Amino acid sequence: MQGQDRHRVIAIDGPAASGKSSVARQLARRLDFVYVNSGAMYRAITWSVLNARIDPADKHRIAELVGDLSLGGVLKDRELHLLVDNVDLTEHLHEDRVNSEVSRVSMVPEVRNVLLQRMRDYANKHDLVVEGRDIGSVVFSDTPYKFYIDASPEVRAQRRAAQGHRDEIARRDRADSSRATSPLIVAKDAEMIDTSNLTIDGVVDEIVARLRRKRFASDLRS
Ligand code: DC
Repeated sequence: MQGQDRHRVIAIDGPAASGKSSVARQLARRLDFVYVNSGAMYRAITWSVLNARIDPADKHRIAELVGDLSLGGVLKDRELHLLVDNVDLTEHLHEDRVNSEVSRVSMVPEVRNVLLQRMRDYANKHDLVVEGRDIGSVVFSDTPYKFYIDASPEVRAQRRAAQGHRDEIARRDRADSSRATSPLIVAKDAEMIDTSNLTIDGVVDEIVARLRRKRFASDLRS
């Protein structure tokens, strides 16, 4: 049950470095929706696990920690940031150690449950563009607006390198796609977009065009 008075949700899923974040942020701006980066939420929990010196393989202690953390949200420039014990951890979310451990921490079902609930709560308050791995398949499986964006492995590796981050995206993709709870899959009713040869604006234009075809009710700015 995903709530009766929910606002509209556009789900954007895809593997690491597929261009999801840039596309989702820009799409949200264009529609005047709130942008939610669910990967950033998993990263914030991962940083908290590492900060508490918990072994990322220790599912039991991670589950305990996530139960004890006080989670909140703050809107900054139409983007929702998760607050952990009242702190916005944004500046830490792309540290190498977070890149290395985030897939492991995000396998823990209790972590997934807590964050899923937060995302659904957000959708009771705002129209959202939410990006992640299981947004169209699990978190908002009933939204009619879902997209799966991908790019060739070479293009994705180049994009990550251009951001100056060290990130083993192939390893993360394998872990994210093979985990037991809510793995990265293409939801059966998601529209696929290959972004390898498109600019961010090009992908956003394509999504807006497809939303129009779905009679998406909004004053879409072109
Ligand atoms: O989008 P990203 O690369 O910042 O996501 C970081 C990690 O978070 C990703 O490797 C797996 C996890 N994640 C997830 O399990 N489910 C989501 N909906 C989003 C991210």
